[in-house]
Amino acid sequence: MTAENTVLCTLEDLSGLACKGLTLTTGNGEIPVFVVRRNGRWYGYINRCPHTGVNLDWVPDQFLGATGDLIQCATHGAQFRIEDGYCVYGPCQGKYLSPIAIYIHAGKLLLRQV
Ligand code: FES
Repeated sequence: MTAENTVLCTLEDLSGLACKGLTLTTGNGEIPVFVVRRNGRWYGYINRCPHTGVNLDWVPDQFLGATGDLIQCATHGAQFRIEDGYCVYGPCQGKYLSPIAIYIHAGKLLLRQV
């Protein structure tokens, strides 16, 4: 699967948001991903819980728990650190979300590789 340097969205699309779900289109189909902001930096992950493989969000673009400082799975409440996707609480504690390598260039958020 190759989707190197793919534009995921513009920074304008992310204006005022703490997180957002996106779709990555590759030659092998579409992959749901999301990005989340922490201390001014964006992090990206595949939208798949390591517990059962379902999407994490319960409504579109809602990936954070009540405190806003952890990613939370809507199905069974697993909580993940924003910075590295490590599960600190829940049925998949000790596992990680799958990261995607993203970077910002010329007002766009891009995927380095998948
Ligand atoms: S499916 Fe995510 S915690 Fe169970």
